[in-house]
Amino acid sequence: MKVSVIGTGYVGLVAAAAFSDFGNDVLCADVDADKIERLRRGEIPIYEPGLEDLVHRNAAAGRLRFTTDNAEAARHGEIIFLAVGTPSSGTDGSADLSYLFRAAEEIGRHLDHPAVVVDKSTVPVGTAERVQRIISSQTDQPVVVVSNPEFLKEGSAVADFMSPDRVIIGTDDPHARELLTRLYKPFFRTNDRILYMDARSAEVTKYACNAYLATRISFINDIANLCDAVGADVELVRKGMGSDPRIGPKFLFPGVGYGGSCFPKDTRALINTAREHGLSLDLVAAAERINEAQKLVLVRKVRARFDGDVVGKTFAMWGLAFKPNTDDVREAPALRIARTLITDGARIRGHDPEAGPNFVEALGATAAESFTLVDDPYEAARDADGLLLVTEWHEYRSPDFDRLRELMRTPALFDGRNQWDRSVVEPLGFSYTGIGR
Ligand SMILES: NC(=O)c1ccc[n+]([C@@H]2O[C@H](COP(=O)([O-])OP(=O)(O)OC[C@H]3O[C@@H](n4cnc5c(N)ncnc54)[C@H](O)[C@@H]3O)[C@@H](O)[C@H]2O)c1
Repeated sequence: MKVSVIGTGYVGLVAAAAFSDFGNDVLCADVDADKIERLRRGEIPIYEPGLEDLVHRNAAAGRLRFTTDNAEAARHGEIIFLAVGTPSSGTDGSADLSYLFRAAEEIGRHLDHPAVVVDKSTVPVGTAERVQRIISSQTDQPVVVVSNPEFLKEGSAVADFMSPDRVIIGTDDPHARELLTRLYKPFFRTNDRILYMDARSAEVTKYACNAYLATRISFINDIANLCDAVGADVELVRKGMGSDPRIGPKFLFPGVGYGGSCFPKDTRALINTAREHGLSLDLVAAAERINEAQKLVLVRKVRARFDGDVVGKTFAMWGLAFKPNTDDVREAPALRIARTLITDGARIRGHDPEAGPNFVEALGATAAESFTLVDDPYEAARDADGLLLVTEWHEYRSPDFDRLRELMRTPALFDGRNQWDRSVVEPLGFSYTGIGR
């Protein structure tokens, strides 16, 4: 099948590469000329395990091509995916749909054949209808707009896309449904994991999933803070909870709060949609509030350890991406933690296997003056007054604690992901603080 993908970011590039891997003829478009130039040279602009191989293989076979020209993409695809960003806009938390609408307009203007256009971006309920109107205002070609929300996780995006738990096809149009079923069928041995629904329900499903997962994280963080106060261990509590099949173990890991390009903006957008309809999503709003406070839990613990005075102190920070296996730092808790400690008068020496340059750029010029990015995690710890584990990359899980003890000025560990064992590190001379332990 001929497929176009508009927007070549974390979602668009993975989707395009995966579709091409199943033999489809895929053209990927992006307005970012530098990104497209790099892709044409065989460089992968983001870090995502398995993506490089997938892109190279399919580009070499001629099934995956890149363009900066949305008009060419409009003319190419019988199915055209819109996978552009939908960030938070303004102060009300609503999704900024300007990229999506601009892309839709361009597609409409250049369409020269009937097409199925697919909203892959996460968009508020009713957006498929709005995109349909925008495209139809530009062309007489028959167009059906479908909602097909994406559930991949950064860090395992290729594996998730190649083997999805489910694919949601949101449309009442039989032809569009048939076409998308044909596109997705090779991803499954049986197609019983394709769920069909109307576009509005599909749009709500995506936000409901993210809001629910965010709520679970905030719930366990709330319980972790209670455990801290009452002398219980949240690691035992979460195992006790997670072993109940009605609850399950996933997304019950206490930590420094969720970040990333989805949960924060999507919870805010959902709350805003409810507000527009005269409703308040109190549970989701609470999850968001708890999360904002939780991003500073390590800062509170650091301040407490140094009696509120960290002026002139240096802290090592391990993990800057919003989660392991990605270079994405959008709304990463590490940004909030670093900025706050720097405002308190501290210096930070940070390490991350992939996200360092993105982190420095996002930090902003003023804070970056008090931040040093280093290539080696042990170098970050040299002469440090504390080590903060913020993102649990594999390489941080079992470090050489003896070496760390030698390097650090003050052997204080602040474990924001409960990766280390107090009974191991305290006998080595460290003080240990986790989350809810
Ligand atoms: N990142 C995730 O883990 C994830 C998971 C599920 C859903 N989503 C959703 O998918 C959408 C895309 O997310 P992302 O993380 O891939 O974003 P991204 O920022 O990585 O990529 C978006 C791309 O779209 C391009 N773009 C913007 N306007 C364009 C236009 N008019 N024409 C062509 N290209 C244009 C940008 O240059 C950028 O490269 C968002 O709605 C997001 O909420 C993301």
